[in-house]
Amino acid sequence: MIRRLRLASGLLLFAYVVLHLANHAVGLVSLAAAESALAALRAVWQSLPGSLLLYGALLVHAVLAFRALYARRRFRELRAAEWTQLLLGFLVPPLLAAHVLGTRAVGEILGTETGYPYVLAIYLELAPEQGLRQLAGLAAAWLHGCLGLHLWLRLKPGYERWAPWLLAGAVLLPTLATTGTLAAGRELLARMAEPANAEAWQRLRASIEDPEKLALLGQLQGALLWGFAGALLAVLAARQLRRWWEHRGGRVVLAYPGGRRVTVPLGTTILESSRQGGVPHAALCGGRGRCSTCRVRIGRGLEALPAADEAEQRVLARVGAAPNVRLACQTRPRGDLEVTPLLPPQVAPGDARGRPGHLQGQEREVVVLFADLRGFTRFSERRLPYDVVFLLNRYFSAMGTAIEQSGGRVDKFIGDGVMALFAVEGPVDAGCRAALEAAGAMAERLEEINDHLADSLGDRLRMGIGIHVGPAIVGEMGYGRAVSVTAIGDTVNTASRLEALTKDFAAQLVVAEAVVARSGMSFEGERREVAVRGRETALPVVVVERLA
Ligand code: FES
Repeated sequence: MIRRLRLASGLLLFAYVVLHLANHAVGLVSLAAAESALAALRAVWQSLPGSLLLYGALLVHAVLAFRALYARRRFRELRAAEWTQLLLGFLVPPLLAAHVLGTRAVGEILGTETGYPYVLAIYLELAPEQGLRQLAGLAAAWLHGCLGLHLWLRLKPGYERWAPWLLAGAVLLPTLATTGTLAAGRELLARMAEPANAEAWQRLRASIEDPEKLALLGQLQGALLWGFAGALLAVLAARQLRRWWEHRGGRVVLAYPGGRRVTVPLGTTILESSRQGGVPHAALCGGRGRCSTCRVRIGRGLEALPAADEAEQRVLARVGAAPNVRLACQTRPRGDLEVTPLLPPQVAPGDARGRPGHLQGQEREVVVLFADLRGFTRFSERRLPYDVVFLLNRYFSAMGTAIEQSGGRVDKFIGDGVMALFAVEGPVDAGCRAALEAAGAMAERLEEINDHLADSLGDRLRMGIGIHVGPAIVGEMGYGRAVSVTAIGDTVNTASRLEALTKDFAAQLVVAEAVVARSGMSFEGERREVAVRGRETALPVVVVERLA
């Protein structure tokens, strides 16, 4: 709830700043256009609902910022972007107070007009130092918002694709806003320099330098800044008080893999304990409980832990965590604990995203198909390399299409062989059916290749296929670009062995009887029992001499 409130209020304030900057950018068209845009925006933000939304969001965001400052025990785990965002956020109120109070509060209290000419005359002519302060305030608010968006979105799938465009927008908008403000300001000053406007300029100047207005602005600004500084000091004092109180409460010992032990005061999170003890620990979101990369498996001491709150439960559920897994940054042990960080210290945003179980690694029943070309090594020895590559690519394309059209997934091509998986996500019986259909389609495609290349091939190509069903460990495995979903285990080895048996039986297919039974298909073939390494009992199989 707190996180959602912070996000919603931050997004609303960010939308306000975007529109504000866009308004300034319109100054590139003309001062009149910028004034019209300002009038349209004021109609929204100065209406009762608009004001409630805007100032409500401002208040909520500020209160939650102080709350977060109090809640965070240590800042050392923050990365540079998070540090920058935090500091910029606390710089915004002192930098923008004069502008907000001067253009809205003072104008409303005294019933005076504070439009574009009023602001531009102050910033570009009468008090340029205030203009610079306003520029710094807007830059701080803009960077604070952009960094907040980045830290939130980087955990979302597809962000990498959009990031360059968002970065371009983040640079372009304030650039256009600054040049638009300067253009509108130049236009105003040129107009005011005309003798015919001398009186208007004096009126504007008098309105800006009105002592009553300046006195009121000074009072309001002083109250706001003192209030802000007081709240900041109160939060810092409360943090110290809590620290002192917790140090009185005793200490807990955390045991890490490899025998490392870290003793910390009660109330310290597991992540803070890792930092204090010098234990490398992943924490992509800087301990905000968003990314899940700090997750740890709890051994001894699990029962004494306070229960995970709703936000932590939601993040853990997103990554399919086991019941003994907790977020290190959100968990404060009440007694001694055994913990094992689950991710390596250097993690990528992708590690924080929820992924289907079959990608994260799970044991499940799958159907595995192996196919191999017979005598291809001999065939390739008599051919030019170009012919070999051409033929193999044609063969792989035909086999890949047959597998995928039947609902399977090509796992890999190995030499002149193919490994395919079925039922990686769906039901196993349907996977058995799909694998048998794929075998038939592969045999047909091979015959088409043989017919098409009859003149150049000499001998017709022949193929052996083995299919088995059973439990395997399925998951995304590999390194760098060579990462794919694959399966390992006995079922895979057995399917490969059945494919090898096609040579012994001079057959095109050797399939485990379980696959045929579970497919529910009527299937012609010879029933046999074969010995397979690693199995105590013989494996019933169906041998099919020719599929096509
Ligand atoms: S560090 Fe991101 S959830 Fe703990």
